[in-house]
Amino acid sequence: MFFRRALVRALRDSSLRNSSLAPPTCQVRQVMRWRSNTSVTAAEEIKKPRKKTSKVSKAKHAGMKSVILPPLPLEPIPVLVDAGDGTGTETPIPSTALMAEIQEIQDRYPDHILLVQVGGFFEIYDHQGYLEEIADLLHLKIARPKNQTKNQLRFAGFPLARYKDYVEQLVKHGKTVALVEQVGSDLTNKTKTKVRNVTRIITPGTLIDEDWVESRENNFLLSVTALPNSDKSSDFGLAWLDVSTGDFLVCESSLETFEEHLSRIQPKEILCDRRLQETHPTLIQSLRNRAGEFHLSMKDTEKKAEALLGGLLIQEDASRALLTDMRKLLADFSPLQVQAAGTLLGYVAENFCHVPSFPAPAEFVPEEVMRIDPVTQQALEITRTFRDRARKGSLLHEIDRTKTAAGSRMLATRLKAPSISIDEINRRLDLVEVFFSDTHLLADIRELLSNCKDVERALQRIHLAKATPGDYINIIATLRMADQIFRLLERKQNQLQGAASAGIMKSLEALAEKLGSCRSLLNACDEIFDEKLQDLHKITDLDAIKEGISAELDEKRRAHQVLKQQEEAYRVKLARKYGNNQMYDSINLANAVTDLEKKFKVSALADPKLGPILAIQDVRGPSRLGVKARIGKDPHAELLERANTSVGLRFSHTHWSALYRSLNESANALLEIQKDVFERACGKIKEHTLPFIETCRTIAEVDVASATAAHAQECGYTRPVVTKELVHDVRGGRHPVVERAQTYRESMYVKNDFHIGGDQRLWLLTGPNMGGKSTFLRQSALLSILAQTSYYVPASSARLGIVDKVFSRVGASDDLAAHQSTFMVEMRETATILKNATEKSFVIMDEIGRGTSTNDGLALAHATLVYLHQHSKCRGVFATHYHELAARVQDDQSQSLDAVKCYQTAVLADDKGHLIYTYQLQPGVMTQSHGIDCARAAGLPEQVIASATAFYQQLENEQGIKDRLWRDWQNMQSSMGTEKADAAFQATMS
Ligand SMILES: Nc1ncnc2c1ncn2[C@@H]1O[C@H](COP(=O)(O)OP(=O)(O)O)[C@@H](O)[C@H]1O
Ligand SMILES: [Mg+2]
Repeated sequence: MFFRRALVRALRDSSLRNSSLAPPTCQVRQVMRWRSNTSVTAAEEIKKPRKKTSKVSKAKHAGMKSVILPPLPLEPIPVLVDAGDGTGTETPIPSTALMAEIQEIQDRYPDHILLVQVGGFFEIYDHQGYLEEIADLLHLKIARPKNQTKNQLRFAGFPLARYKDYVEQLVKHGKTVALVEQVGSDLTNKTKTKVRNVTRIITPGTLIDEDWVESRENNFLLSVTALPNSDKSSDFGLAWLDVSTGDFLVCESSLETFEEHLSRIQPKEILCDRRLQETHPTLIQSLRNRAGEFHLSMKDTEKKAEALLGGLLIQEDASRALLTDMRKLLADFSPLQVQAAGTLLGYVAENFCHVPSFPAPAEFVPEEVMRIDPVTQQALEITRTFRDRARKGSLLHEIDRTKTAAGSRMLATRLKAPSISIDEINRRLDLVEVFFSDTHLLADIRELLSNCKDVERALQRIHLAKATPGDYINIIATLRMADQIFRLLERKQNQLQGAASAGIMKSLEALAEKLGSCRSLLNACDEIFDEKLQDLHKITDLDAIKEGISAELDEKRRAHQVLKQQEEAYRVKLARKYGNNQMYDSINLANAVTDLEKKFKVSALADPKLGPILAIQDVRGPSRLGVKARIGKDPHAELLERANTSVGLRFSHTHWSALYRSLNESANALLEIQKDVFERACGKIKEHTLPFIETCRTIAEVDVASATAAHAQECGYTRPVVTKELVHDVRGGRHPVVERAQTYRESMYVKNDFHIGGDQRLWLLTGPNMGGKSTFLRQSALLSILAQTSYYVPASSARLGIVDKVFSRVGASDDLAAHQSTFMVEMRETATILKNATEKSFVIMDEIGRGTSTNDGLALAHATLVYLHQHSKCRGVFATHYHELAARVQDDQSQSLDAVKCYQTAVLADDKGHLIYTYQLQPGVMTQSHGIDCARAAGLPEQVIASATAFYQQLENEQGIKDRLWRDWQNMQSSMGTEKADAAFQATMS
């Protein structure tokens, strides 16, 4: 049984080796051990007898149908390499010629780890001095050849099948990899018959078919360039591309806004123009210091930037291609953007070893989105948590109910750059409303969406010639889903005719129009695969492609079937002859020579190309002739001598081998035709790239809208009203993430109202520690971000004026590495806000001034509040423990802070004096922070609490005396003037 299965698999695998990176099954290893000439190993390359090799090549060159197969080369010296999982694998020792070749490749790619394919293995050598480190990282044992000569280097290796696991480890540890694959045979070279090329460079920003790439996030490569003789030396061109989805954007940035772009793009790799090392050394150094966040690569200025981007634009669509004036096309982009995009494309072309094909980039216009600076992104934990930068626990994680990866990516993109266009926000919200108000439609759509696959990534793999049949099947299946979604939306449109607002109708129409192309796309593409083959990863199943797609294929398949029948019949015959107990599956050639078993070690093997083999070991000298004669005289004379080593003889079966060869050839031919059919089918998809991309985006759009509706229904969110007015009118507002946490704790979240507008612009909050101030601050900013993302909001109603920029000063972090104390960080963040906030901005500030002495802090907090009130005129919320600040604002006679209103988070005490936090906001100023109560709750020793209470009383008394004296002096001053008041005051004191 085993034998038959092994042969069938071997048959399949013989064609696998034709495709790049085919996973070796046990056969590949077997082949190596058997010294088959199909998998030439490094040691074979050096040790292969020259004379015999040339005979083969001559025969092949002459196009002869060689029946006499070449003698097989000598066994490679096996070296045990531990793959780390305890499974030792045999890897051959590299040859001198191979070494020279690798050295040459490593010199060309000095920055990358070379993974060199040698037969069924990838090997890592010691050229660049990284072997120890990499072997350690991958838990590979370094092989030390026993007969080490100066030409043989130490190395470590692993089988091709483990390639993805090991590359994942390398890339996750910040390494970049150059794959050196065997791409053909060189029969003219006697010592090195395999041609090897670098087929791909794998860097964190150019991942495409790696299964471990997080599909719900974009994997951006960001290119940063500066023009050589720019008068504005601080301006950069930015271009960022997700190779796996084709999302491609460009913009310009100043040094000041660079970090903001970075925190929005969250690139996995940054590609910097090498020139920036001279013009912006500090920036480059700071990027280098952030190795955990992204990989930094440097590239020389791309001289062909224009041509690279221009080439892309011309590919983009046929009508634009007719425009011959490339300059006109490029005029859409600034020189800086062209330089950045071209550099990026050049790099991607190098990494994929061919010029890539992507949709033309879109321009990102910062002024068209709500600006959220990096500090605020972090503080509000929009896509990552503040503490460990994880997605879990962030706002995005909390609200994301999308069904597709593309939907999730779209939601993240929108959340990081909410819109400021009321029309756009309403257009998207209209769509959410359609789903929100029709539960059945919502359920149906979400069901269909859950069957949609990541078509954007599949499309990109088709463009980069990395697609699998699975990708193709997914594209077609998703198109079908999209078609059904289209029908549902069309029906809804008809239903709503005359009953819904013009906005809703328009949104539905636009969506249906975009999805309408699904049917024509489906018609344009061939459904070449059987649908039940959902998990198909490689086109190696001989019947992967359906019947009726290609006449040639069908005919070849029939011929193959005939051969298979012959094989079956012959198997029965052979099994009778050599099998055990009539078991047809057990063809054991050893049974032909049972008499020899007493003298020699006789074994039956299986060769993927030749079928069963009889191996007789330890046959030396004259006994060889004896054995040969014995076999020749035998009734089983159909056994043919195949190869002999100095100590053994091997025989295959003439008929069987011939049949096997035919079957092999026929299978290979079948696979070739299947590959052709597949490539042609992929070609058709490529022709329709733009409508495909549009369909993908529309599916994502439907996903985001329906996910918003589903989440809103689940958590009781409402549709916000967005307006141009500078107002915030929120009833029953909640914090989306803290509310969820409260639910887990089975306690109720306390809703709060929030009104800004008219004579109120800023709220000043006081309240006890743990009273809910910080939560309210964040909640008020998050509501605007959600609304402008076109998301429903956690409130019973919300009318929100468009916000152009959100700022927050809430964190309490030292940046000691950057030589900045908490207070310094706080002041820098405050400076940014004061410089950039406008009338349309929203600012939250939590306990500003707390990092220094009381009076300094109070003075700075007061001055900041006055500045924001009088100059920036922005909306916002301040939280403070400086009761005096709040008291002064409340008693302010000068009306200089008239748009600031004081609120407090109320606290109650039970009959034992324990505090009860109500989290309820009400007008007024709380004069106690209840810090000691909080400390007691936190578990400080009672002794410390008692001492703190006594000291606090003393301070309060002293402060009371001071306050009384101050009031006395003020009274005297107003009744008798300053001089007399001073004199009288002195007299009283003495
Ligand atoms: N509105 C609310 N309803 C229920 N619990 C709340 C509310 N606001 C805050 N909390 C709880 O109180 C904790 C402390 O809130 P926080 O805003 O940090 O207080 P403060 O800034 O006043 O010290 C939060 O972690 C949360 O568990
Ligand atoms: Mg707080």
